[in-house]
Amino acid sequence: MNINWSELGFSYVKTDKRFVSLYKDGKWDGGVLTSDDTITMSECACVLQYAQTCFEGLKAYKTAGGKTVCFRPDLNAERMISSCEKMKMPVFPKERFVEAVAATVKANEDYVPPYGTGASLYIRPFMFGSDAIIGVKPANEFQFRIFATPVGPYFKGGVKPLTVRISDLDRAAPHGTGNIKAGLNYAMSLYNIVDAHEKGFDENIYLDAGSRTYIEETGGANIIFVTRDGTVVTPKSDSILPSITRRSLLYVAEKYLGLKVEERKIALSEISGFAECGLCGTAAVISPIGKIVDHGKEICMPSGMSDMGPVTKKLYDTLRGIQLGTIEAPEGWIYEIK
Ligand code: PLP
Ligand code: COI
Repeated sequence: MNINWSELGFSYVKTDKRFVSLYKDGKWDGGVLTSDDTITMSECACVLQYAQTCFEGLKAYKTAGGKTVCFRPDLNAERMISSCEKMKMPVFPKERFVEAVAATVKANEDYVPPYGTGASLYIRPFMFGSDAIIGVKPANEFQFRIFATPVGPYFKGGVKPLTVRISDLDRAAPHGTGNIKAGLNYAMSLYNIVDAHEKGFDENIYLDAGSRTYIEETGGANIIFVTRDGTVVTPKSDSILPSITRRSLLYVAEKYLGLKVEERKIALSEISGFAECGLCGTAAVISPIGKIVDHGKEICMPSGMSDMGPVTKKLYDTLRGIQLGTIEAPEGWIYEIK
């Protein structure tokens, strides 16, 4: 294996094996691990014409004790079930999902980065409608696949505070698909992320599309704020993705760090009052935000542009400790790959 683990960014590296299961005539087959990383299908496949696809993202790590583990894969399985239900795709059963994740990691064990490198094996389960569909309706045949790819930090610079902007475009309609992990939510963010990068911003913060008043999330991560008296606050909305990292951090904040936590609507007008801000997600882990630009108005977090704020850092260290086995995890959070 010729991989410089500590230099890895967040990009695709082909690994040895991927899991593939096919759905036909109303049922899933047993699934196989294959070396073939390509897919052949009809030019009229539902995924190609009408974007009938959803995905998940989770990571495998080497712990301090040398085990290979995944973080809460059962929650990814559950979220994929809700994505599938909303996208009119057949559910891949939870137990089978977790087993397939484990089999994929095990088959690519050599690509799980060593403990201490900061890298991890990113696991991407996904599903799509594969048969030819021309009238607007769901497919009849589907593929559920999982590949794995070793990754480093999602944002270049690792944990250096980010500069983000308040977006003029919307990510998700009220009563739409913002709370599921459908490819379409990401397709519509591509124009905006390129535009943000061209203008020197790391990410877009989306507002609620209905009133454009409240903070929602970014294109690929949820947001947490910390008040000046140390309360962890995160937006509550039906149109943001229920981040597993965010839900875990709220638990950690309350139960491990004794902090107050609040899930509530957060108005754009109040963010200048917060002490710290960060993005959280599987890919982003916790990435601190140093500056939020709202149409030329710069909102600089008191935590500054060189380091994570103190509460964000505690949250980060505790979550990473739990994931890497140096801090005892809550029951059921760590899934060992044997
Ligand atoms: N929000 C969006 C839009 C995402 O794509 C992700 C990534 O998965 C998240 C939030 C974070 O979710 P999680 O912590 O489950 O990875
Ligand atoms: C993740 O954190 O797993 C994501 O899906 C974010 C991004 C890569 C889409």
